[in-house]
Amino acid sequence: MVIKCWVTHLMLLLITWKESRNCNGLTVDPPENLTVVDPGHFGHLEISWSPPGSLINMTNCSTLYHLEYFNTYRNSWSAARMSIRSYSVQFDLMKDIKVRVSTILDGPCTNNTMIQSTNYAELIQKPTSTGVVDTEVQDFICLFHNMEYLECKWRRNPKTPANSKHNLYFWHKKLGQAVECPTYIMSGGDRSGCNFTETSLPKFTDINFCVNGSSPKGPLKPTFFSLQIQNHVKPAIANKLHLQAGTDMELQLQWEHPVGRVPGHCLEWEVEHSQEGKTPPTKSVTRQTSLILTSVHNSERNCFRVRSKLSKYCADKSFWSDWSQPICNQEKKEIAPEPQLSVAPVYVGIAAAIIAVLVLSLCVGAALKVKKSRREKRPNSLLATLFAKHVTVTAGDA
Ligand SMILES: *[C@@H]1O[C@H](CO)[C@@H](O)[C@H](O)[C@H]1NC(C)=O
Ligand SMILES: *[C@@H]1O[C@H](CO)[C@@H](O)[C@H](O)[C@H]1NC(C)=O
Ligand SMILES: *[C@@H]1O[C@H](CO)[C@@H](O)[C@H](O)[C@H]1NC(C)=O
Ligand SMILES: *[C@@H]1O[C@H](CO)[C@@H](O)[C@H](O)[C@H]1NC(C)=O
Ligand SMILES: *[C@@H]1O[C@H](CO)[C@@H](O)[C@H](O)[C@H]1NC(C)=O
Ligand SMILES: *[C@@H]1O[C@H](CO)[C@@H](O)[C@H](O)[C@H]1NC(C)=O
Repeated sequence: MVIKCWVTHLMLLLITWKESRNCNGLTVDPPENLTVVDPGHFGHLEISWSPPGSLINMTNCSTLYHLEYFNTYRNSWSAARMSIRSYSVQFDLMKDIKVRVSTILDGPCTNNTMIQSTNYAELIQKPTSTGVVDTEVQDFICLFHNMEYLECKWRRNPKTPANSKHNLYFWHKKLGQAVECPTYIMSGGDRSGCNFTETSLPKFTDINFCVNGSSPKGPLKPTFFSLQIQNHVKPAIANKLHLQAGTDMELQLQWEHPVGRVPGHCLEWEVEHSQEGKTPPTKSVTRQTSLILTSVHNSERNCFRVRSKLSKYCADKSFWSDWSQPICNQEKKEIAPEPQLSVAPVYVGIAAAIIAVLVLSLCVGAALKVKKSRREKRPNSLLATLFAKHVTVTAGDA
């Protein structure tokens, strides 16, 4: 990484040196009046400048500008070349803003050699520090649940004065002005997040957020965030897990995509396989919705659960979904969230007990009857047989 940076810098230096050589003794000044204007879009700033005054009488020159700005999200300088004299860039308003612009001349006036100004116009702007210190919100996180609705949450700073009220505002390119949160999420009487409905936010566009607020001691320190919602997807939980024993030592696990807006081909799955007595569980990743496990001892209890996230082919990053309900072999195959399931064994037990009592009394009755009427020599053997039968039945039930 460091070496790569060095090479890039060296190359840039060489290019600059080559460009600034000029055969005509011609030089060019850097641009003037470099300004950065904040139109209230939470970091989407407008940079503008004027051509150098010395250029005004130059004809037959094509003028370009080389803009460099410190990209606080990547922690490195980014550059762009353009003939226009203004440009909008996303900055993190909580960090220093650093911008540099130089002039490049080309065309007949320089005998078609590129000449770049040796100096640049530079602007460094410190973050504006408004608000009561140590009142900025913490752990801001946005989740785009199953691509249906976006929830952004934050934690209040422990030093926030009592009776404070937080506000969330957001902006993206399709909005003229910043807009306040449509529905706040409340916890313990405080605003702890914002719930956006599906239609209100575009994908593949920077969305800028500002969480500010007021308190009896003055305005709270604002915090700024910028993100694209397609990189914050948390898929829904998978369901309909199905486990099938194949030929010996083989198990086939199948499941279904969660219903909703997340395209099935975008999901990758993690399958967790835990085997009784064996720790830790093994994990495997697949892009299919099934997995065949070989060398599985069917006599042992094997449990599985799955979770998903968007693959790198569909989003730069994604959050894992919650784990599905586990499914185990030697159990019911379908996992359905039925509350009766836990009560069922009790019913089965009661039923078995009633049957046992009935069979027992029938047996005793029959045996006594036989003993009385026929007075056979070995009445107990019949009783024993019946008992034996009954015992087999209950053993089978259990
Ligand atoms: C730069 O700004 C100053 C003051 O605003 C103005 O007098 C000057 O003409 C500007 N320069 C250019 C090249 O526009
Ligand atoms: C540009 O040309 C005009 C007239 O030709 C002259 O008055 C002016 O001083 C020149 N400006 C510069 C910056 O050379
Ligand atoms: C500009 O270029 C044109 C042809 O490309 C030429 O006729 C003209 O004289 C040039 N003007 C100056 C001021 O160099
Ligand atoms: C312009 O460049 C060409 C070759 O690129 C050269 O032959 C010519 O002399 C140059 N003209 C001037 C005025 O420097
Ligand atoms: C946010 O809105 C969605 C859809 O309207 C809803 O399902 C979800 O429960 C809401 N979240 C909170 C924390 O209220
Ligand atoms: C919070 O930010 C919004 C949008 O910039 C602004 O209109 C509002 O006055 C701010 N609120 C406080 C308490 O600073």
